[in-house]
Amino acid sequence: MSINIIVCMDKSSAIGYKNKLLSHQSADLKRFKQLTQGHFVLMGSATYRSIGKLLPNRHNIILSRNKKFHVPGAFIRHSIEDVIKEYKLNNNEQELFIIGGEEVYKQAIKYVNKLYVTIINHEFDKVDAYFPNISVNEWKIIDIEKHLSDENNDYDYSFVTYERN
Ligand SMILES: NC(=O)c1ccc[n+]([C@@H]2O[C@H](COP(=O)([O-])OP(=O)(O)OC[C@H]3O[C@@H](n4cnc5c(N)ncnc54)[C@H](OP(=O)(O)O)[C@@H]3O)[C@@H](O)[C@H]2O)c1
Repeated sequence: MSINIIVCMDKSSAIGYKNKLLSHQSADLKRFKQLTQGHFVLMGSATYRSIGKLLPNRHNIILSRNKKFHVPGAFIRHSIEDVIKEYKLNNNEQELFIIGGEEVYKQAIKYVNKLYVTIINHEFDKVDAYFPNISVNEWKIIDIEKHLSDENNDYDYSFVTYERN
């Protein structure tokens, strides 16, 4: 049982602009799919709107304060604490991945044991959403994989995995 964050950020911790991702690097999307398949994914309603559909082969949980918010096939929850409590009570095999966006990452990071971070080696000009600061006192890097750009990935990038100290 593990509660994780998965995020793709640029060198300045930026994660989005106008409710869209900053880049669609193929390797990052593949890693996202590979890690989250079969597990629970938790997202804010803005991220759900940005994706535009539920993620297949995953239990989709969407956070909204709107009690009338409804998406067929998704679990709608109205507080992060409820999601965490329910997850811990009912589940011991599947992992829970917090998949964004900014507002949800900021609130959820304190409940998380692992961060799966893709760092794009670039600073995007137009950004309006950020990942919170990853404090070196709280987190240690347990794995790092560096990759160069190629025909499917516009920028150099690294996969960095952090575990809570
Ligand atoms: N790079 C990445 O890895 C990545 C991943 C995901 C998203 N993003 C980007 O992040 C940006 C979106 O982030 P965001 O901060 O605007 O939105 P968000 O976190 O996706 O969603 C915010 C919404 O979630 C609901 N919510 C948040 N906290 C809640 C709580 N404690 N209880 C109940 N509901 C809660 C509210 O929905 P209601 O308004 O319905 O009440 C709120 O308006 C976009 O640019 C997106 O592309 C990037």
